[in-house]
Amino acid sequence: MATTDPLALFDEWFALAREKEPNDPDAMALATATPDGAPSVRMVLLKGFGSDGFVFYTNMDSRKGAEIAANPRAALLFHWKSLRRQVRVEGPVEPVGDAEADAYFATRSRDSQLGAWASYQSRPLDARSTFEKRYEDMRRRFQGKDVPRPARWGGFRVKPELIEFWDDRPHRLHERRVFTAGAGGWKEGLLYP
Ligand SMILES: Cc1cc2nc3c(=O)[nH]c(=O)nc-3n(C[C@H](O)[C@H](O)[C@H](O)COP(=O)(O)O)c2cc1C
Repeated sequence: MATTDPLALFDEWFALAREKEPNDPDAMALATATPDGAPSVRMVLLKGFGSDGFVFYTNMDSRKGAEIAANPRAALLFHWKSLRRQVRVEGPVEPVGDAEADAYFATRSRDSQLGAWASYQSRPLDARSTFEKRYEDMRRRFQGKDVPRPARWGGFRVKPELIEFWDDRPHRLHERRVFTAGAGGWKEGLLYP
């Protein structure tokens, strides 16, 4: 039997999630950790995937950005509640190239582009009004102009070394298919649930 390509399987599951999930089928939990192993987790949106990895965009100076800079590994988790499925992805992280990040930033709404300029993501904010004022300042600053990508806003790509597909089955006899990347390509196995 030919080995299953886990990216092709992800593509299938993601297509079904896009059809069935009431909202945010592209939402995934992103876990990072400090070099001494203290973990942190938050949701981000998947903006692209392929054999080279799973891409999300963020502020490089955010907490996640700092943790990735110091310890460039991450874990991702999709949970599609309506389908009773989860997918786990683990691997090293690298920044997306400038041209790719520019191209994606250009597809965002102008309001989101201005928001990226206005937010010092993850840093303390004294009052909501300070943020709203910064947003207005950015609106004025870029009036009549295209909004360029902020230098510290960009993408990261998680290169999968492990992908696990978890599928709900009756009597808690769930199915876990795990794929690990090796020199000869992907290796597939099963795990007890
Ligand atoms: C459904 C959902 C999607 C989100 N998508 C993103 C995203 O794509 N990029 C991002 O920087 N933050 C996103 N956020 C906000 C993050 O969860 C988080 O609050 C923010 O990135 C700061 O995290 P940090 O302080 O750990 O860096 C999203 C939040 C939710 C609930």
